[in-house]
Amino acid sequence: MKRDSFSSRMGVLAAAAGSAIGLGNIWRFTYLMGDNGGAAFFLIYLASVILIGLPIMIAEFTIGRNTQKNPIGAFKSLVPKSAWPLTGWLGIIAAFSVLSFYGVVGGWTLYYLVRSVSQSFLQFSPDQYATIFTNYIENPLIPILTQLIFMGLTFAIVVRGIQSGIEKYSKLLMPLLFLIVILIDVVALTMPGAGEGLAFIFKPDWSKVDMKVIVMAVGQAFFSLSLGMGTMLTYASYIGKQQDLKKTALQVTVADTLVAVLAGVAIFPAVFSFNIDPTSGPGLVFITLPAVFGKMPFGQIVGPAFFLLLAIAALTSAISILEVLVAYFGEELKWGRKKATIISTVLLTLIGMIASLSNGIWNNDAFFGMNFMDFLGAFSSNYCLPIGGFFIAIFVGWRMKPEWSNQELLIGAKNARGNKLVLWLLRTLVPAAIIVVFLSGIGVIG
Ligand code: TRP
Repeated sequence: MKRDSFSSRMGVLAAAAGSAIGLGNIWRFTYLMGDNGGAAFFLIYLASVILIGLPIMIAEFTIGRNTQKNPIGAFKSLVPKSAWPLTGWLGIIAAFSVLSFYGVVGGWTLYYLVRSVSQSFLQFSPDQYATIFTNYIENPLIPILTQLIFMGLTFAIVVRGIQSGIEKYSKLLMPLLFLIVILIDVVALTMPGAGEGLAFIFKPDWSKVDMKVIVMAVGQAFFSLSLGMGTMLTYASYIGKQQDLKKTALQVTVADTLVAVLAGVAIFPAVFSFNIDPTSGPGLVFITLPAVFGKMPFGQIVGPAFFLLLAIAALTSAISILEVLVAYFGEELKWGRKKATIISTVLLTLIGMIASLSNGIWNNDAFFGMNFMDFLGAFSSNYCLPIGGFFIAIFVGWRMKPEWSNQELLIGAKNARGNKLVLWLLRTLVPAAIIVVFLSGIGVIG
């Protein structure tokens, strides 16, 4: 069977950027920035993206295109009979824990998309929006219904394969996403008091920075760039030999960061303009924004446009996670794409249902003081992804023969400029930084 692949440079870019740009940029990035002091968090995040994220993305691309395999198969073929495939296994575990809760939040975006269309939805007070949000996510039925619809859409794209599924829909949806976020920015910037929101995003107050802020910023860099799980590795396995991997990684990173900034600009001027507390946590987007839309010019249009944007971003990321599992089941267990996609989706949806119920009737703090849904998020971004990223960096930096990695980076590139720097970062700064951040994250140091 001929292996599927991306058909064009634009297709690769749209799909990889589609994976990176997601709920992480809009929902997660903005509430973390709100919680962690604004601009200082943003600058540390930016440094992590450039110094840690970008080199790891290049490393994942290198392994993926070199082997043209799923994360486990890739390590098996490069270093047979070693423990390295465990890195791929960690990615499979991360894929299950991220996508199961991601599907639930994806469902939330669909619910808000539908509700924000009705005129009456924009007339409540911020308190009432908090009640609406809590009632919704605690309901045992409706969030599961919306989760099922979201996972159904994810399934429908992935089952069609790379070219006629993932590539086609990413090329269609990603430009739409940029258009909508810019539109919202224009409206947001014309609101009275927008300046205060911009100062919050761009004027750092370093007194707010401690080790926790740094840990969160680094974790967010992994989450937002889709790193440490093998997502980018898997996508790169469908990239043709004529493409420059470093250039593609740089473009994806810039696009992802740009959307995070644009999302911040869409949200914080409005939050400050209406005196809403920026530290509202995960509810920031779902509780405070409807209140903002109700009071802003064109809210009736901007509101649904925003939730449509969020749903699209979530969808193009969800498909990239599902593809990791489908590639693994398809290639290692030799299942057909349809069977692999059905079984993965069903499993993910079942775990996601438990996560959804853990916001309501099954809510307890049985998982290290967290409910199941929060646990899945923390477990994956604070543990699986950085550990996965660490081993990927070590692998390309130290274990992969330099001739191979150098060669792979040269294919499709005009020259070797930057290869040395990337490999040097992967050998030294990247693993060292992950260790420091990881150890302080679990409280060993700092
Ligand atoms: N990066 C996506 C977002 O920001 C989510 C995502 C897709 C992801 N693939 C991933 C997160 C792999 C971690 C690992 O929403």
